[in-house]
Amino acid sequence: MTFDIVISDMPANSEFAHLGAQWAFDDWKETDPNDDIQWYLNVYSESAIDPSSLPLSLAATAGNDQLAGVACVVLDDALPDAIEPGPWVAAVFVNPEFRGRSVGKQLVTEAVRRARELGHTDVYLYTRDVAHWYETFGWERVRETHIHNKPITVMVNRV
Ligand SMILES: CC(C)(COP(=O)(O)OP(=O)(O)OC[C@H]1O[C@@H](n2cnc3c(N)ncnc32)[C@H](O)[C@@H]1OP(=O)(O)O)[C@@H](O)C(=O)NCCC(=O)NCCS
Repeated sequence: MTFDIVISDMPANSEFAHLGAQWAFDDWKETDPNDDIQWYLNVYSESAIDPSSLPLSLAATAGNDQLAGVACVVLDDALPDAIEPGPWVAAVFVNPEFRGRSVGKQLVTEAVRRARELGHTDVYLYTRDVAHWYETFGWERVRETHIHNKPITVMVNRV
């Protein structure tokens, strides 16, 4: 299948916002029992209010009608006792039908570019099991820690 991916701001309160929030919630709910689908919907809504400040939320779409993936940048990604200043790339998820075709890389790269455009320098994230993937495009491991007793890796993308 060939398709063109377009990365743009997540439209708030849209079908895509609900689908993206559901994907992100389903992906993290076992790791973080305090997680809540409303958290993602709020991030998408806040992102749409003021494009000149964080949070920001991106949607990758294929042919206007299919959501291929999502990503955000938030000031605080609810990592207990985080020592890193943020901001954080968060809620990265690619629709399984579109995996392995650089949608994830494009989303994360654009998220970092936009955060820098808003004046942020180093950008952080934490991941359960795809640190190797992030290392393939400029991210470095900072430390290993736990969230709700599940191991995660904190990473940074430095200017
Ligand atoms: C991780 C994820 C976002 C990647 O999205 P994607 O669009 O498939 O990624 P890309 O196409 O940009 O990159 C895929 C490439 O990375 C490679 N890759 C995937 N996982 C990897 C890993 N753990 N370590 C190293 N390389 C990896 C693939 O082999 C592929 O390489 P290729 O292009 O040479 O074949 C996607 O698999 C996903 O949504 N996973 C579930 C949610 C998740 O883990 N999100 C991250 C939360 S921190």
